[in-house]
Amino acid sequence: MNYKDFYQKSLEQPEQFWKEQAEQIEWYAQPQTILSKDQNDYPLWYADGELNMCYLALDKHIQDGFGDHVAIIYDSPVTQTVIKYTYHQVKTEVAKLAGGLLSLGLKKGDTAVVYMPMIPQAAFAMLACARIGVTHSVVFGGFAPHELAIRINDCKPRVILTASSGIEVDRLIAYKPLVDEAIELAEHKPKKVVVFNRKLGARVPFKKYDVDYDALVYGSEEVPCVAVNATHPLYVLYTSGTTGKPKGIVRDTGGYAVSLKFSMHYIYGVKPDEVFWAASDVGWVVGHSYIVYGPLINRNTTVLFEGKPIKTPDASTFWRVISEHKVAVMFTAPTAIRAIKKEDPKGDFIKHYDLSCLRTQFLAGERCDVATLEWYNQHIPVPAIDHWWQTESGWPMIANMMGVEFLAIKPGSAGKAVCGYAIQILNENGQENGPNEEGFVVIKLPLPPGTMLDLWKDSPRFKSGYLSAFPGYYFSGDGGFKDTEGYIYITGRVDDVINVAGHRLSTAEMEEIVASHPAVAECAVVGIHDELRGQIPLAMVVTKTGELMEHFQLEYEIVHLIRDQIGAVACLRNVMVVQRLPKTRSGKILRKLLRSIVDKENFQIPSTIDDEAIIGEIQEVIDKYATNKQK
Ligand code: COA
Ligand code: AMP
Repeated sequence: MNYKDFYQKSLEQPEQFWKEQAEQIEWYAQPQTILSKDQNDYPLWYADGELNMCYLALDKHIQDGFGDHVAIIYDSPVTQTVIKYTYHQVKTEVAKLAGGLLSLGLKKGDTAVVYMPMIPQAAFAMLACARIGVTHSVVFGGFAPHELAIRINDCKPRVILTASSGIEVDRLIAYKPLVDEAIELAEHKPKKVVVFNRKLGARVPFKKYDVDYDALVYGSEEVPCVAVNATHPLYVLYTSGTTGKPKGIVRDTGGYAVSLKFSMHYIYGVKPDEVFWAASDVGWVVGHSYIVYGPLINRNTTVLFEGKPIKTPDASTFWRVISEHKVAVMFTAPTAIRAIKKEDPKGDFIKHYDLSCLRTQFLAGERCDVATLEWYNQHIPVPAIDHWWQTESGWPMIANMMGVEFLAIKPGSAGKAVCGYAIQILNENGQENGPNEEGFVVIKLPLPPGTMLDLWKDSPRFKSGYLSAFPGYYFSGDGGFKDTEGYIYITGRVDDVINVAGHRLSTAEMEEIVASHPAVAECAVVGIHDELRGQIPLAMVVTKTGELMEHFQLEYEIVHLIRDQIGAVACLRNVMVVQRLPKTRSGKILRKLLRSIVDKENFQIPSTIDDEAIIGEIQEVIDKYATNKQK
């Protein structure tokens, strides 16, 4: 099969194309309506189909006779543990946990928050929710209580599932006190908190709402899967937007199941029974789609890795996991490869491992720079495939579809549009750009199955944020260009979202927090270039008149405000004090200009700037700051 024809068919006959793909999964009620529209004229897939995601991920394989195959390999260098769970074992645990959740009063249509480190119980919790039609919202364990509280208030969970602790390299992070603090901060109060005690020595303060995970599972009977409608929200996953309030991306069940099955086969080119490893975290969309649901639906063995590419214990970890578990296809973020490259520039560790099992390396989460790609290619003889997608899409939008046809790799490009995605590059007037002309990356509606359904309880924001900028198109928030052969190059966000080590963060949210410091009159947070993490945030603040606080003290306090409110993952470490911020005559801060000045890029002075002299002042502060930091 060739990519061109397959892709063309997906756009010309979308209903036929996605009807055929829907036949690749099992439904309780096969959909008769393939594509329809909701009350907002937004596409709905398989509206009258009925299915259950947990059934597809677990029970189906047992019924088909594969219950003894390994479903999950939990590999945890931080606890020096490797545990393999068969499909049968996972199903038993999940079905009992689901029974336990029902006994706590959870029912189809409710929501539950999962706040866990990278342990199998995180996946069990997600699957147990899916089994009984409860919409889960997984919150990344690196987020602070304040962030967790925002999500609790928004999705109003009846139950939170958590664990006693996570481990950051060699540091124990007690999760339970963080959950208690979040509940105290939140207006909405969940009824129960299910706590999985890892017995690693973390403090687990007891509250009246606590339920012990083990006791709940062992005291409960297995319960069957319930049928849900295809448009039933499987999960809400919060991601950063351009305001201080995170956006709850709502994922359907039917379209998502079809798209994951499709992508495992046609994009990742992975066959059932093979080992698939996405080295990410269940708190991100990659974890939802390609640690938990995608590989399990496809009957793969998925690796759930609790560690980092370096320091756990060193830069050889990835290669050990690949060779030890015979990983066929792997997925990670370029920043992880950069971290390994920094520790092991000559690739000496790689030579100690037999990586002959590895067929393809996928990279995403941020732009893959050419130097990283070249280093990878120099040391590991498998194709390294950049591919582009977002929390909103749920699965890749631009890629080299390895299960269809391997296209030549062009370094710097994320590949070509994936089936179902009519990707165009528009200028600000909504006209299509010519080849190699940079513009806004948009997708002509309808989006294919599996992409976001809505924003949780906020359709107006969904429409204004994604569908209004270019009517008839979904706007991705990214900029890029397409070459004459259809290869697409993503150049980065065109809004205030930044990407720190593959983690998506909002500078607007950071600005709100920085501005809350009593000494700060106004501020701007911009994402600047960083060798390891791709980008890091930098805060520029103007202090209130008469404020005499020492710079180092102010920096320390602001850095800690961000760590306390968002979490250490934000990586805000630098705060500069400036006299004024560059603004337009109408008072808008010129953030793009600030970023270019800090990154020492060529820039054009915007004609709208109110006072050009500020540029020189800022350059001076940056140079002085850099010299002081070096000292
Ligand atoms: N819980 C609590 N804290 C966490 C956390 C978690 N789940 N995850 C990260 N943090 C903390 C870290 O401990 C660190 O804190 P510190 O500033 O006190 O040291 C901070 O957040 C930054 O974390 P991280 O970016 O992971 O820094 P690092 O130096 O430990 O590791 C990399 C650097 C590049 C190795 C790491 O960022 C990485 O593996 N990146 C790949 C990310 C990825 O796979 N993203 C998936 C998207 S597809
Ligand atoms: P997230 O929703 O956290 O997955 O982040 C999605 C954003 O990460 C996208 O909008 C892009 O800005 C960026 N991104 C993800 N993958 C790539 C890639 N392969 N190339 C360039 N940017 C990427």
